[in-house]
Amino acid sequence: MTMANKQLLIVAHAPSENTRAMLDAVLEGARHPDIDDVAVTAKSPFDTVPEDVLAAHAIILGTTENLGYMSGALKDFFDRIYYPCLEETQGLPFAFYIRAGHDGTGTRRGIETITTGLRWREVQDPLVCRGEFKEEFVAQCEEFGTLMAAGLEAGVF
Ligand SMILES: Cc1cc2nc3c(=O)[nH]c(=O)nc-3n(C[C@H](O)[C@H](O)[C@H](O)COP(=O)(O)O)c2cc1C
Repeated sequence: MTMANKQLLIVAHAPSENTRAMLDAVLEGARHPDIDDVAVTAKSPFDTVPEDVLAAHAIILGTTENLGYMSGALKDFFDRIYYPCLEETQGLPFAFYIRAGHDGTGTRRGIETITTGLRWREVQDPLVCRGEFKEEFVAQCEEFGTLMAAGLEAGVF
């Protein structure tokens, strides 16, 4: 077995059965059997430290929308990694997905504001899974993960 050269980090808050299914699908998609050169790791935002971000070649962020903003978990992640990563991770390719009961816009704005500050590079449109939970969200998450890993492997970003 060969060692993957590129690290894809998934930092996702998954507090419910549905969001856990979404995260599992992103992970499964990113670990597509045709993608050999990307090692994928998923962590809770609470467990993610600046060193994890510094070691990553690309990041997928995942969160629920709570009270019109990203989850406190993802905000805590940003609060802790912002300054340790600011000078080191400019240009880092990232993408994010949101599970929102009915909206998602405040969360999208919040993530894009912080990542603009970090000068990360958004390489894929956000996936916003809004409203009543639908099975199709799981397929969308899987595709989202595959696209990101495939892009990283191919050197598209
Ligand atoms: C305290 C709380 C606040 C929430 N606020 C929002 C909100 O502002 N906007 C929104 O779209 N959904 C909101 N939701 C719904 C969550 O985004 C949704 O329940 C969560 O993503 C989990 O999805 P699930 O029910 O499919 O597991 C909120 C849920 C909770 C518990």
